Amino acid sequence: MSLLIGPDVNARAARVLRVVALGERLAEEGARLQATLARHPRMARFLRHQASQEQLHAFAFEAGIRYLAPKADPAELPGIKALNQFRERLLADLEQGRLAESLVGLQMVLEGIAMEVLSRLRLDLARNGARFEPLRRRLLRQEESHHAFGAVWLPRMAAEGRTDRERLRAATGEYLLLGNAVLEGCGELFADFGAPLARYREALRQALPEWLREGTA
Ligand SMILES: [Fe+2]
Ligand SMILES: [Fe+2]
Repeated sequence: MSLLIGPDVNARAARVLRVVALGERLAEEGARLQATLARHPRMARFLRHQASQEQLHAFAFEAGIRYLAPKADPAELPGIKALNQFRERLLADLEQGRLAESLVGLQMVLEGIAMEVLSRLRLDLARNGARFEPLRRRLLRQEESHHAFGAVWLPRMAAEGRTDRERLRAATGEYLLLGNAVLEGCGELFADFGAPLARYREALRQALPEWLREGTA
């Protein structure tokens, strides 16, 4: 249930969607760069496919923003700044060729946030009509497949000696901090989507494979 339904509900929903759309753009950019670093052709193919899906997700949310708030809105959630900090870290990993760490950031943490938001979005958008529901379900399935891809490839890369589990756990702790800042910077999301911040944070951590979240808070 929404706690803060008011006359500006569409504008507030649009502000949250701006963070979501920017996250989709980041996922697209990150997956494209990851594809150039992948040594396995199958991995590169999946990442290119993911990038195209993220581009479509961004289009969908950008259309949603135009629908909810046709006029430009100067107000910006702190989540935008937090997401840009997340992006800086992700791009630094990619520029340095740290593909495994980038998988932690993009496929495990950022996708974890996307899964969490998409699984709760129904509660909120129900009042805006059921038309969004099939799209929401399709997007959620795709984000789950991106998350699962990270969970499969990370141990494989560690087994191949291309990274080690200690480094990945350290990266997980750092990306979780950045991801939690994004969640905190979208306070309006929690009022409208019906779950307290602590539940989002815990769900994000719980979605990680057990070996990866060991030692993270
Ligand atoms: Fe996406
Ligand atoms: Fe995704």
